[in-house]
Parts: sequence; structure tokens; C-alpha cells
Amino acid sequence: MPTVIDHPSKIIFHRLQKFSDQHWGKHFQSPEETKINFFDNPKLIIKAKIDGKLVGLVNIFIRTITFKGIKLVLGGIGGVVTHQEFRRCGVATATLRRAVIEMEKQGVDISLLCTDTDKLGSFYQKVGYQILGRPYYYFNKFGQEKPDTGGMIKAITQKVNVTEIINSSDKLSVGNSDF
Ligand SMILES: CC(C)(COP(=O)(O)OP(=O)(O)OC[C@H]1O[C@@H](n2cnc3c(N)ncnc32)[C@H](O)[C@@H]1OP(=O)(O)O)[C@@H](O)C(=O)NCCC(=O)NCCS
Repeated sequence: MPTVIDHPSKIIFHRLQKFSDQHWGKHFQSPEETKINFFDNPKLIIKAKIDGKLVGLVNIFIRTITFKGIKLVLGGIGGVVTHQEFRRCGVATATLRRAVIEMEKQGVDISLLCTDTDKLGSFYQKVGYQILGRPYYYFNKFGQEKPDTGGMIKAITQKVNVTEIINSSDKLSVGNSDF
């Protein structure tokens, strides 16, 4: 059963980042671009262990956004990674399911993640995420607004209708830092 780290310190976050760097594979952005676009610290980290060995991580970034004049608590999911030797055993599915439970506890309304939907869309669909199908926007470290594609979205509470967000032409802005 995955466990939760609430409010991880920067030291813990950076220590876990080493696991992520080791097991992620090739990033599509350079390390410089990554620093500029992904600079938020997660509110929660979901950690999976097998026989005491770290095998999987998921980061949860929580922020309040406004969409169509309505305030929503957003749970951004990032850093989903499984140890290379423990893949296809359900680790990421288990950590994501735990992430959903934690987001419910935190009063999150909608969850958003970004991925290569051609490759991993069906994986995230199994945990209930739907393809956004249009860009969402975030501010980078310099305060510049940037679009990102590959968004997938899931309702956590009944406050939002995800289909409405998908079909809307209103800009979906997620605040400072991508996930
Ligand atoms: C993507 C990743 C997190 C999946 O982790 P995992 O623990 O192997 O996932 P699960 O075992 O829970 O997979 C469940 C299902 O997802 C699908 N799936 C998992 N990895 C997949 C992949 N690389 N490509 C396509 N489908 C995949 C499969 O349908 C799998 O079902 P199966 O057991 O019937 O094959 C892992 O491959 C990884 O760490 N990749 C590198 C980092 C990365 O790309 N993270 C995602 C960023 S958005």
C-alpha cells in the first residue's frame, strides 16, 4: 500500500528527485527548460515501496484556480515514475489511486496531469482521467504565460463537470509552474 508524505521538505523532495532522475528515462525538455517550467514544490508525495525498497512516486501540487468565474481546488499530478525493474506490476496504478484518495481528503475538485497521450493516454484513462484535447496555460519562472498540451483531467468532487471543461473554449489556467 503506497504511503503519503505531507508537506515534504525541500531536502526530502530533492532526495526523491534523484530516484526520479534515475528511473525516468529521457526528458523531452532540457534540464534548463525543466527548471524554468517546473518549479513548484508538491504539497504531497505518494511513495510506493516493495520489501522496503522505493519503487514508485507521484507528486501532488494543490492550488486554487478560477475557471468561468468559479473557484476550484486543483490537484496537479506530476512526477509519476516507477522503478525500471518493477514496471507493469501495477505500481503506478496503485500510487495514482492513492493520490486520488488523498486529493479527495484535501478537498480537491479537479485533477490535471500532462502526458504523452498517444503513449500513456490509455494508462491514465484506466484511473479515470480524460484527455483535455486543448492546451492549458501556466506561468513559468519568469512570469510568462505558456501553453502545454497533453493535459488529462479528472473530476474529484461533484462540483465540476469535466465534459463542460473539455468542451469549453474558456482558457484553463493552472497558475505558477507546470506539473
Ligand atoms: C508510465 C509508468 C509510470 C507506468 O508505471 P507502471 O508501474 O509500470 O504502471 P502499471 O503497472 O500500473 O501499469 C498499468 C497499465 O498501464 C499501461 N502502461 C504502463 N506503462 C506503459 C507504457 N510505458 N506504455 C504504454 N502503456 C503502459 C498498461 O496498460 C498497464 O497495464 P498492463 O499491466 O496490462 O500492461 C512507468 O512506465 C514509468 O515510470 N515511465 C517513465 C516515466 C514516465 O514516463 N512517467 C509518466 C509521465 S506522464
